[in-house]
Amino acid sequence: TSIAQRVLVTGGAGFIGSAVVRRLVRQGRAVLTYDKLTYAGNLASLAEVNGHAGYQFLKADICDGQAFRAALQEFRPDLVMHLAAESHVDRSIDGPGDFINTNIVGTYTLLDEALRYWRSLDASAQKRFRFHHISTDEVFGTLGADGLFREDTPYQPNSPYSASKAASDHLVRAWFHTYGLPVVMSNCSNNYGPYHFPEKLIPLTILNALEGKPLPVYGKGENVRDWLYVDDHAAALELIATRGRPGESYNVGGNNERRNIDVVRTICAIMDRVVPDAAIGPREGLITFVADRPGHDARYAIDATKLTNELGWEPSETFESGIEKTVRWYLDNGAWWEPLKARYDRARIGLA
Ligand code: NAD
Ligand code: DAU
Repeated sequence: TSIAQRVLVTGGAGFIGSAVVRRLVRQGRAVLTYDKLTYAGNLASLAEVNGHAGYQFLKADICDGQAFRAALQEFRPDLVMHLAAESHVDRSIDGPGDFINTNIVGTYTLLDEALRYWRSLDASAQKRFRFHHISTDEVFGTLGADGLFREDTPYQPNSPYSASKAASDHLVRAWFHTYGLPVVMSNCSNNYGPYHFPEKLIPLTILNALEGKPLPVYGKGENVRDWLYVDDHAAALELIATRGRPGESYNVGGNNERRNIDVVRTICAIMDRVVPDAAIGPREGLITFVADRPGHDARYAIDATKLTNELGWEPSETFESGIEKTVRWYLDNGAWWEPLKARYDRARIGLA
């Protein structure tokens, strides 16, 4: 196809961004990763593509308009995929400032420069260009026992993180309606898989279970998340970016609702089977209920029928197949996560 031959990916050194970059480079597209390399950014996640013809990396901040302007002028993308963000809810509770700057001011800065760049293109390049904003289901707030988040569900963000993402979604929408910038948007549920930073529930549980450390479960562990394997999300993002209708948003979800306690128990069972350790004993014994997250959303669940009906997307992993792959990936890739452990602040959850 002639679309998305040159893709600028913000946040491409992060968990989902690196999965997107690896996918696009494998397909032979020219890719520029634009990433500040915060604590969450990691060039080791891009080792597979580093040095590949057509692949480039730029260390830069999305709040730096001049740097982004120069990157657009030099790289001349026909697609910008915007994944750079502060992504961890607990960190947003401890210190919202970086979330306001990166997620809101950073997104505004990109939109401002993307519009200037888009206006400079000739008519056919303008028609091809897309700005894809990647967002979260957390903007919709929380669900009771029933119901699913749809694209037209009202926004009700409850954490500083989700409020900052909601603000960024609204800015992107406004740049489409007011200025005509050809944007597409997507809101996805919880991702898991390889290269996930070990502050998040699933990699934290795997690594603590491996080492026989406590497995912190907030509150009673009854909160529900809808889990999607990261490569299934990357496939959805490619479809949305290249074939989604400008101005539209698409929900992405895994149809895999699980209570946190059940996620942790499933990981314990896999670890006991794959790496039994007599000194540790059954890993479920490591589960430790800790203080609940303030404002903890009870349940997220996605209705992805728009994406499936319009663009034909279906996830390829079940939770069972994806979690097994994920555990094995962490067991085989100590070289990736060992250096990260020092960067994870366990004291924050009372487990120093
Ligand atoms: P992540 O925290 O793993 O990675 C974020 C990346 O952005 C890092 O490489 C970091 O260095 C970079 N970054 C942060 N601030 C930056 C700045 N100011 N300038 C340039 N780069 C900066 O995040 P993730 O889990 O891969 O999430 C990616 C995107 O997808 C985010 O927008 C997030 O809101 C969204 N999302 C995540 C999930 C999930 O489950 N992880 C689900 C739905 C949506
Ligand atoms: O829904 C999409 C969102 O999923 C993304 O927008 C976020 O960027 C991403 O971080 C993720 O947010 P969550 O808050 O759902 O993910 P986290 O892994 O932090 O927590 C998952 C659930 O597990 C949540 O209910 C809180 C709970 N939890 C988390 C941690 C880190 C625990 O019980 N113990 C823990 O130690």
